[in-house]
Amino acid sequence: MSARPRVLISRSAPPAGIDPIKAVCDVWIWPEEDPIPAEEFQKRAAGVTAIFCHPPDKIDKDLLDAAGPGLKVVGTMSVGLDHIDLAECRRRGIKVGNTPDVLTEAVAELTIALLLSAARRLKEGYHYVTTGEKYWEHALFLCGHEISRSTIGIVGLGRIGMAVARRLKSFNVAKFLYTGNSQKSYAEEVNAEFVTFDKLLESSDFVIACCSIHAENKGLFDKAAFKKMKKSAIFVNVSRGVLVNQDDLVEALTSGDIYGAALDVSTPEPLPLDNPLHSLKNCLMTPHIGSATINARSGMANLTARNILAGINGEDLPSPVL
Ligand code: DGY
Repeated sequence: MSARPRVLISRSAPPAGIDPIKAVCDVWIWPEEDPIPAEEFQKRAAGVTAIFCHPPDKIDKDLLDAAGPGLKVVGTMSVGLDHIDLAECRRRGIKVGNTPDVLTEAVAELTIALLLSAARRLKEGYHYVTTGEKYWEHALFLCGHEISRSTIGIVGLGRIGMAVARRLKSFNVAKFLYTGNSQKSYAEEVNAEFVTFDKLLESSDFVIACCSIHAENKGLFDKAAFKKMKKSAIFVNVSRGVLVNQDDLVEALTSGDIYGAALDVSTPEPLPLDNPLHSLKNCLMTPHIGSATINARSGMANLTARNILAGINGEDLPSPVL
């Protein structure tokens, strides 16, 4: 029988993550494109030393029970941790590592792409050129908003929020506002002002959600929040779908309470095709591709492998959460 540690990988990952683990461990990788079903995940977890996972594959009590006491480390190929029961991992002494930093630039770039696309109505523009529908009827045809001279509100000025602000600075932004748990000393670099959530909503032309998810901010963007925003405001979400009450967002976009939205995340993912958000011309959606560059995904996979190997060897994780 092999003495090599057993590692369960919940879906495929770039070679930069798989190869270093395969070199020293026995690895089983879920072979399908669709997420691993919970039952299969539990079955495969029995007796493993480490789990390499991705959101939304749930690391919950049932999975940890199924894995048993030999599980030393969980490495998630994500910065987000909302799929992991951290309290339960802590209680069992299981180390957890994630992948911040290596994806920051990629997510910031997609955020800018979403912001510009919503501001300049690219979804509608694409519709006209691909359907052959008659267009250019008047001088205000598909006129949108400029970032220049605007106020940008960032909810969650962490690594990604700062990377977004740095990039937007070159667009001649008038003012950056931010909100979150605490004031950040590094906000000075972009001259961003710490304000309450309400003040940010009332004052911003663009509201960008880059925050991590916790119990208190689920549904933060609801009817009341959208009502406080400017009617000309554009909402961008690169955080998680659960931050938003999607029915309230549909209403805000339909009634004109806000001007537009661009979302890389939704609940659930993928969002069923009959969800009204898909058919709104002022709502642009992408399929959770914030970190989807070859460079970022390879970096994430490699950091996950290093977290896993360090955990197996009883060493400090290079990127620890627990
Ligand atoms: C993350 O890293 O959390 C991204 O959203 C990809 O899931």
